[in-house]
Amino acid sequence: MKFDAPATQNPIDQLKVVGKSTDRIDGPLKTTGRAPYAYERHDVAANQAYGFVVGAAIAKGTIRSFDLVDARAAPGVLSIITTLDYEPLPLGGQNTANLFGGAKIQHYHQAIALVVAETFEQARAAASLIQVDYAREDGKFDLEREAARAKPVPDEDETNEAGDFAASYARSEVKLDQRYSTPDESHAMMEPHATIAAWEGEKLTVWTSNQMIAWGKRDLARALSLKPEQVRLDSPYVGGGFGGKLFLRADVVLAALGARTVGRAVKVALTRPLMINNTTHRPATLQHIRIGANRDGRILAISHESISGNLPDGEPETAVQQTRLFYAGESREVSMKLAQLDLPEGNAMRAPGEAPGLMALEIAMDEMAEKLGLDPVEFRILNDTQVDPMKPERPFSARHFVECLRTGAERFGWQKRKATPGSVREGRWLIGMGVAGGFRNNQLTRSAARVRLSRDGKITVETDMTDIGTGTYTIIAQTAAEMMGVDLDDVIVKLGDSDFPASAGSGGQWGAANSTAGVYAACIKMRHQVATRLGLNNADVIFSEGEVRSGDRALPLRNAAHDGELVAEDGIDYADDFADRAQQSTFAGHFVKVAVDAFTGETRIRRMLAVCDAGRILNPKSARSQVIGAMTMGAGAALMEELVVDKRFGFFVNHDLAGYEVPVHADIPHQDVIFLDTTDPWSTPMKAKGVGELGICGVGAAIANAIYNATGVRLRDYPMTLDKHL
Ligand code: MOS
Repeated sequence: MKFDAPATQNPIDQLKVVGKSTDRIDGPLKTTGRAPYAYERHDVAANQAYGFVVGAAIAKGTIRSFDLVDARAAPGVLSIITTLDYEPLPLGGQNTANLFGGAKIQHYHQAIALVVAETFEQARAAASLIQVDYAREDGKFDLEREAARAKPVPDEDETNEAGDFAASYARSEVKLDQRYSTPDESHAMMEPHATIAAWEGEKLTVWTSNQMIAWGKRDLARALSLKPEQVRLDSPYVGGGFGGKLFLRADVVLAALGARTVGRAVKVALTRPLMINNTTHRPATLQHIRIGANRDGRILAISHESISGNLPDGEPETAVQQTRLFYAGESREVSMKLAQLDLPEGNAMRAPGEAPGLMALEIAMDEMAEKLGLDPVEFRILNDTQVDPMKPERPFSARHFVECLRTGAERFGWQKRKATPGSVREGRWLIGMGVAGGFRNNQLTRSAARVRLSRDGKITVETDMTDIGTGTYTIIAQTAAEMMGVDLDDVIVKLGDSDFPASAGSGGQWGAANSTAGVYAACIKMRHQVATRLGLNNADVIFSEGEVRSGDRALPLRNAAHDGELVAEDGIDYADDFADRAQQSTFAGHFVKVAVDAFTGETRIRRMLAVCDAGRILNPKSARSQVIGAMTMGAGAALMEELVVDKRFGFFVNHDLAGYEVPVHADIPHQDVIFLDTTDPWSTPMKAKGVGELGICGVGAAIANAIYNATGVRLRDYPMTLDKHL
């Protein structure tokens, strides 16, 4: 189905099932431990052996040789494969660092060997006996030092300049010129990267944990020089990804190579230290923002520069993205620079670009409001825009940012905030409130599904879409139930198998809207088949309560499958220029109250509120869970999360959950989420947009601004640990 004009009235608008707060249909399986995650799939292949991955102990250099004598002789060892046994495996387009093969080491804990043994303990013990002779080279590990040599990376797909920034800035009456920084961060999902691999002749199956099944199939085939049809990925349950499982990682290719070597199924999980240094992370940024405005508070000029680092051929963190679009102003320029670093690969982590970009921009907006003597809510409202400020002929498809701010201010009790910093005190605690805007784009991407109607009237949906803890199973079931006029209980959803039609996958908060739109398309096709089979008029047919009605006729839906199961497959496709005709984004207002210990600088969050404008909310309950999870991640980014770089040896030191701190329940005492009742007909026939990443966008700055309001100390470098108050 081609989607090339804004959606009109359609069966989803009935909202009998869609749009209702609905418990996860996979909840009972998960809460009783019966949802099988990759490493626990004991039943999929017999006689599974265990693989243990060895990571390089240097950050840069080459391997001269391995001494495997002791390791091979260790109990239970079946085989050891090393990186010297292979050429570097060909990489998929979105991977940067080598996954395995060759003597060259690009980063610390790059995979250099796999020990396969009868038990996990035996594999791990043998791995510790491997001796490696390295030729170590000096590397570049310090972003601040390399920043001076960073090279511009113009974003060819985007507009980087509009108007004349220098001239508009020069004649601005009030100016801000400040620098901000964000650290390297880790996804720190609960489930590690894990894979069981088994070969049947030349056919490889991997039971794994991956967000993007179609990419994984393509890239695994490429890595092992197989045809795509020789490869199957299965990933029905994913214990968190946050971008860390978008692309193929070493667990997948090493399980496959190990299984081929020993002629048995092999299972491999990355240990927590390997997750930190072997896989990817959110790159640190150094940001420079200048804003000029007139005394009346109207912005004239905005400039945003971001410097990040990555391995050669790696991508920059696109932290300037939102600055193109978020606020009005006649002139702006955005730019990114990339420094070469020999740290592990930087890549996408939840809301790549906007998450760290807004951590800077939204502090800058708070600083400007103060310089102008304006309330920070009003300053943002004053500079709202309903069109792309760099291409004014292009409107936003739907933008209710002002309503997010007004609703939030009212519900949060913003009028009680004292504009003068440091003026509210409760004993040793300084109390402050902060606000920030949230912004995240909505991306359209093809998504397909197959729908089956069986003789008992049950609907089965099959798509390679993943549920990374987001609630995908449930919103897909809701969509199919609404479209086919059946109860939620009559829908079976099967996900994550590359033998199913290729979906949008889970990434970039595009999963919910696109994958359900693919199910919508398949259901439209199924409805036609049903109407034809039942001899009903397709034009006025209604699917409701297990019946199909047309005029004064009503027939049970299951009658259509009387002579055998009906199957319909289709996908949603977008006209090439569709996304260019209107800018699709999502918006939020974040409000935070903090208490800061006047003596130690310890910051405690007291309350958080997010008001979200993200189109139709398909399931308010699971969407709320997405947003509060993202707000929690934003609190982590603001107050504690930081991969600490060892600048001598080039690795992330705090490579476990003891050292890499994430928020716990005690850090998050109170959260509220309000969804504006909006739809966006430009997004898909579902009129829904992404929301899973919106929740993290802006939170960090709202906390920073609350700390400033509490203390009068302006922090611009994250995380805002207590030492930064000194
Ligand atoms: Mo998201 S960082 O695209 O999983």
